[in-house]
Amino acid sequence: RKDGVGRLPALGWNSWNAFGCDVNEDKIMTAANEMVKLGLKDLGYEYVNIDDCWSMKTGRNSMTGRLMPNMTSFPDGISGVADQVHGLGLKIGIYSSAGETTCAGYPASLGHESLDAETWAGWGIDYLKYDNCGVPSNWTDQYNFCVPDGSGNFPNGTCPNLSNPAPAGYDWTSSNTFKRYTAMRNALLGEKRTILYSLCDWGDGDVNTWGNETGNSWRMSGDISASWSRIAAITNENSFKMNYVGFWGHPDPDMLEVGNGDVTDAEARSHFALWAAMKGPLIIGTDLDTLSQANLATIKNEYLIKFNQDPVVGRSAHPYKWGYNPDWTFDPVHPAEYWSGPSSNLGGTLVLMLNSENSTATRTAIWEEIPELKGGSSYHVTDAWSGKDLGCVKSQYSSTLASHDSAVLVVKGCC
Ligand code: DGJ
Repeated sequence: RKDGVGRLPALGWNSWNAFGCDVNEDKIMTAANEMVKLGLKDLGYEYVNIDDCWSMKTGRNSMTGRLMPNMTSFPDGISGVADQVHGLGLKIGIYSSAGETTCAGYPASLGHESLDAETWAGWGIDYLKYDNCGVPSNWTDQYNFCVPDGSGNFPNGTCPNLSNPAPAGYDWTSSNTFKRYTAMRNALLGEKRTILYSLCDWGDGDVNTWGNETGNSWRMSGDISASWSRIAAITNENSFKMNYVGFWGHPDPDMLEVGNGDVTDAEARSHFALWAAMKGPLIIGTDLDTLSQANLATIKNEYLIKFNQDPVVGRSAHPYKWGYNPDWTFDPVHPAEYWSGPSSNLGGTLVLMLNSENSTATRTAIWEEIPELKGGSSYHVTDAWSGKDLGCVKSQYSSTLASHDSAVLVVKGCC
């Protein structure tokens, strides 16, 4: 999908993590207005995305076969909301599923790809999130697929027992999952409007190997929830897949839970930093009307946004050392704690250190261990959370971190 949108990870907001099925025009427009007022738009956040439950649950229009907005919750229709969102200089996203129904049981798009793409293009839609629910039995896959870890093993605990695993070397582009997602890709490409295509297939069908030619981003794992345990588990699972990251194709660790549920300020910082460092789409998932100053500052962190939105370097940060769990094995509680990545936008190297333990602990970035630093002895360091210039630092830098907090450093040129 190298057709003008999605070269860099998408920045925006989505209704699901904040409101679930309780979505309406008022909430969407509040989010859009807040994106402008809170200065998020100025930082590049641009998509306002409506998730599941926007349409008539009873079915399609019996005359035209088209999906119909629920006019009680969206009195101006989706096209009316699109006009208002565009009026704010933002873009609008919609949601459907590559099945007969969405996850919440609303009509979905399998077999209706062209008509739905045409409808959305006509409404002025700029972004489609395409879910993986409601798949009829004749469209399920012949083989089970489970995402392997970095060593090619299926990690215990995250995979169902595979009743019928694919033979070694199986070509997943002959799978039904691939076909379902490709049908919508082709339908979207058939429209004159450019619509960013976000695959929400949860890692199924080995999507990492074909997501890039199909969509602008693809989900690598199951749903996030507003808890550190899930954030840590997704970080762990996705840390093995960073080789798939590049321009135009963005593996998606799921939307942000900053500001939601049990996620503390420290956990929200680490969550945002890891997602930005992985170069995932940064899709805010909270009620912007009630977001705390601390969490707002987190999602507005200019160093992390700059790293995520680098126009020259497509590569993500990678773990360079595991930390708490030194074996580099699957551990959903203690994901990789030491990450680094090159950044042209920051003019240096981003270094992230996480404390995955349940109590305060110290983490130390040792320059000679960091691949990008190539063995230099002294570097100029900036603390990305405080913006403080830490001056010229020799050999290593230690940070005492509260439970689940992280240090983010910008490390530049020798000094
Ligand atoms: C599953 C997706 O992964 C979620 O992000 C959300 O879109 C829900 N479905 C909606 O039903």
